Amino acid sequence: MRASIAVLPGDGVGPEVIAEGVKILSAIGSVFEHEFELNYESLGGNAIDHCGVSLPLKTLERCRRSDAILLGAVGGPKWDNPAAKVRPEDGLLALRKELGLFANLRPVRVFPSLIDSSPVKARLLHGVDMIVVRELTGGLYFAKPKRRWQNSKGRRGVDTLRYTEEEISRIIRVGFELAQRRKKHLTSVDKANVLETSRLWRQIADEIAPSYPGVRLDHMLVDNAASQLIQNPSSFDIIVTENTFGDILTDEAAVLSGSMGMLPSASLSAVHANGLGNFVSLGIYEPIHGSAPDIAGKGIANPIGTLLSVALMLRLSLGLHQEAEALDQAIESALMEGFRTMDIAGDQDVQSVSTFKMGDRVAQILLS
Ligand code: IPM
Ligand code: MG
Repeated sequence: MRASIAVLPGDGVGPEVIAEGVKILSAIGSVFEHEFELNYESLGGNAIDHCGVSLPLKTLERCRRSDAILLGAVGGPKWDNPAAKVRPEDGLLALRKELGLFANLRPVRVFPSLIDSSPVKARLLHGVDMIVVRELTGGLYFAKPKRRWQNSKGRRGVDTLRYTEEEISRIIRVGFELAQRRKKHLTSVDKANVLETSRLWRQIADEIAPSYPGVRLDHMLVDNAASQLIQNPSSFDIIVTENTFGDILTDEAAVLSGSMGMLPSASLSAVHANGLGNFVSLGIYEPIHGSAPDIAGKGIANPIGTLLSVALMLRLSLGLHQEAEALDQAIESALMEGFRTMDIAGDQDVQSVSTFKMGDRVAQILLS
């Protein structure tokens, strides 16, 4: 097949991990005889530096015309001044919103060979295999008013948590659709003891539940969910939750897999009734980690979150299931052989490899 992919490396370690993602795409292309046309565009801090805006129109238009988008990370201390008018993160948020990518899937798994890389006790990690479905274009991140100002009594700031019925029901349905194809257990995470939006969320989830009679729906308060993720992580199948809650819980969940660098994500505009397996739509594929300015430029970032994101792209936007499977297997094999970037090398006496070497090994396995 021919596919056109927008590549947005972004800032910090973004370009380093994306280079490995591109290496893997070209390996997949040559093994399976596909032609991936890659179009590089700017987003975030580098876009601010070059054209004064965090999401240039050219980037947005290229993304709209593409079959999928591969993204690194945005942000960094250079653009972090609280008084700044434009921020790198705004570009990412605007891109998600403009493309209507409301469903952010973040699969969390623990590779058996990495069980000792996690600070969580090994006996708790067996069987961990969940997907966090994070609402991505609403909630606290987007609703207005959102501003800072000053009056005679001092400085003020406001963010707003607002959801419409439609926004809640479409993301809850994504949760049910995925649960139906997996372990049939959906945990809806909210803060219904305090927030009105959460009470609405819970009501709507209960109303949708009868359409999915095979799926068990549980409600869980977000503070308890944070605790259960560590104490009982294998009890989860699908978690569906508000934008901010999902952002926080997935950084926490990454600890289970050994490192922030391990988790991929897919941001989608729909999940069709035929489910995760047979579903093709435009999406952004990006690791969940940030631009990691502390290690940027050193060639030591973990590219696996990006490589797993490429596998999600092959599966969900390009419909290339066999290829995605081969990539997942190659990543697992490289880890089994003992390849480790610094973040997952653990306390053992393991020699860690560079970002480049990790990508190379996965590519070699694919090509062999
Ligand atoms: C993520 C990131 C972003 C978010 C930032 C960079 C805006 O933390 O994708 O999880 O909060 O959504
Ligand atoms: Mg985050």
